[in-house]
Amino acid sequence: MVEVLAATDKIIDGYGTDREALVEILREVNDEGGHLTRAHLQRIAERTNLPLSEVYSVASFYTMISLEPLGRHVIRLCQDAPCHVAGGREVWEALEHEFGIPFGETTLDGQWSLLTTSCIGACAVGPVIMVDDDIYGNLTPDKVREIVARYREADAQDAASESQGGPA
Ligand code: FES
Repeated sequence: MVEVLAATDKIIDGYGTDREALVEILREVNDEGGHLTRAHLQRIAERTNLPLSEVYSVASFYTMISLEPLGRHVIRLCQDAPCHVAGGREVWEALEHEFGIPFGETTLDGQWSLLTTSCIGACAVGPVIMVDDDIYGNLTPDKVREIVARYREADAQDAASESQGGPA
């Protein structure tokens, strides 16, 4: 816990404690640990002199910030209208079927989380997903399955190389 808060303090020190820095602080602390805990939010509230309720409210507004642990890979499907009319519903169903979980959940093995997001600025190539930090557009259910298969293959190769004593 002490280390976690020390890391949070370091990030806050880098941005300063003005209210304007709040979103960047939340984003970076989130990226560091994969999600924000109550301890993170309390520390950020203390250091920025903001009410915890405000810090929580800002954190829960942004889809790129999570208040719960997420999977190793996070898939975010754009749910805004241009992507939706371009076939987002079919992509949604393909993803839920592929992982056997509804959106908002993480697979039991902790490998995949399915989340929605608002527009990520790639409307011209909708429907669009982000897998971790990578954006994929012009999706169909088949393309989505191919993308997921590539990640699974890469993960399997990583696991094999780790079991042989580290990266090749
Ligand atoms: S509406 Fe989906 S990326 Fe803009």
